[in-house]
Amino acid sequence: MKSGFISAFSYLCSMEIKENESQIKTYHIETYGCQMNVNDSGIVSRVLSDKGLKAVDDAKDADVILLNTCSIRENAEQKIKHRISELNAQKRKGKVAVVGILGCMAERMKDELVSNYGVDIVAGVDSYRNIGDMVMKVWEDESFVVDTDFKPSEMYEQILPQQMKGSGVTAFVSIMRGCDNFCSYCVVPYTRGRERSRNADSIVAECRSLFAEGYKEVTLLGQNVNSYCFEKDGTKIDFADLMLQVAQISPLLRVRFATSHPKDISEKLIGVIASQSNICKAIHLPLQSGSNVVLQRMNRKYTREAYLEKVKLIRDAMPSCSITTDIIVGFCGETEEDFLMTLDMMERVNYDYAFMFQYSERPDTLAQKKFEDDVPANVKNERLSRLIEVQRQLSLASNRRDVGKQYEVLVEGYSHKSAKQMYGRTSQNKVVVFDGDQTAVGSYVTCKIEGCTSATLTGKQL
Ligand code: 5AD
Ligand code: SF4
Repeated sequence: MKSGFISAFSYLCSMEIKENESQIKTYHIETYGCQMNVNDSGIVSRVLSDKGLKAVDDAKDADVILLNTCSIRENAEQKIKHRISELNAQKRKGKVAVVGILGCMAERMKDELVSNYGVDIVAGVDSYRNIGDMVMKVWEDESFVVDTDFKPSEMYEQILPQQMKGSGVTAFVSIMRGCDNFCSYCVVPYTRGRERSRNADSIVAECRSLFAEGYKEVTLLGQNVNSYCFEKDGTKIDFADLMLQVAQISPLLRVRFATSHPKDISEKLIGVIASQSNICKAIHLPLQSGSNVVLQRMNRKYTREAYLEKVKLIRDAMPSCSITTDIIVGFCGETEEDFLMTLDMMERVNYDYAFMFQYSERPDTLAQKKFEDDVPANVKNERLSRLIEVQRQLSLASNRRDVGKQYEVLVEGYSHKSAKQMYGRTSQNKVVVFDGDQTAVGSYVTCKIEGCTSATLTGKQL
């Protein structure tokens, strides 16, 4: 849906940036939103550095600034629009050369980002292979480029993403792209395209090479990893099979995954997680609402009863497994009774942690077309506060149950508060801060838990 004056970008540029130091251009990527975006920024970074551009930490030193954006809630987009205005002000002063918008907002707003927001590059989620050429074109022609076409075959094979949030200990590996679930509130199926799974061999090879580089943990990423499916020589590899292959790389490599859709989490997968000590005992299982009426309106395709059955399967197989969730309050038509059902589910499942949001209507979603965003802002606010307080109590109780126990902790770095303290995570994905400055980052230590807040465990290295 491009306007007349912007045609699809199909420019195959053969121009490589010259080796000459003075001509080397610099770039800076700012990433908003989810872990998938962080991983995509790693792909963009790899493509640009292969083209000879140099990454810089400070936006002020960059010739090109790229914002990898998120559209999931309106306030995420507002923040990014504000950042674009800031960059435009600097551009007018000649301090910034090129500004590019990547990701979900690029897909959602397309040409409008050029015509109304003055950006130079609009690159959708399937166009990152060409990002170096797009940058070159803008420099050479002093014009703009827009490419927001979906390319369903684009899996970014052969492009090893740079790990952007580098502790050097934990890495993220994207195993799927897109989403076909069409939850009625969600913009993702429209901004990231159709669901498709990556080649299992290349995923395992990427995890193996990360382990060889020294990474001790990989998190396999997808919008709904439970529907992963790749066919090899006539045999179907599902997510449980893939997890097993990755876990077998080494017992010293921890494996995590995000995110699961409750309708698709299988007994087979739960069995695989339970059977491998290096698959972390932590499952993120977004509930969204505890009311069946609201779940149906959300097009979630499960009931609270079905969800509780999945929780029981997990708890029976792995009593020590942590369960975390996402909740939306104030979805269209949510009554006080519906909300109380959500609070009731929080208590029943006894979540270890939750990400909690107020419903934010997104353009062109099923909910925007079918339902009225009728819960007043003050009611959304009040429900969110009540929910957060319930979860705070549950998280505190969960952490208190850990006091006195021993956990294996993968050390990720030094605590921000004291140079004599380090931190790491348990298999359950809880952060443990412990005394010690002699322990190697990336090593496994055993900690006895001695105290906690609702957010963190504190312990002693044994
Ligand atoms: N409003 C509020 N929260 C949303 N999420 C997704 N779409 C919306 C929306 N329109 C939340 C869901 C999802 C998480 C990543 O973001 O809880 O699981
Ligand atoms: Fe959005 Fe639902 Fe897909 Fe998650 S599963 S990305 S909430 S549509």
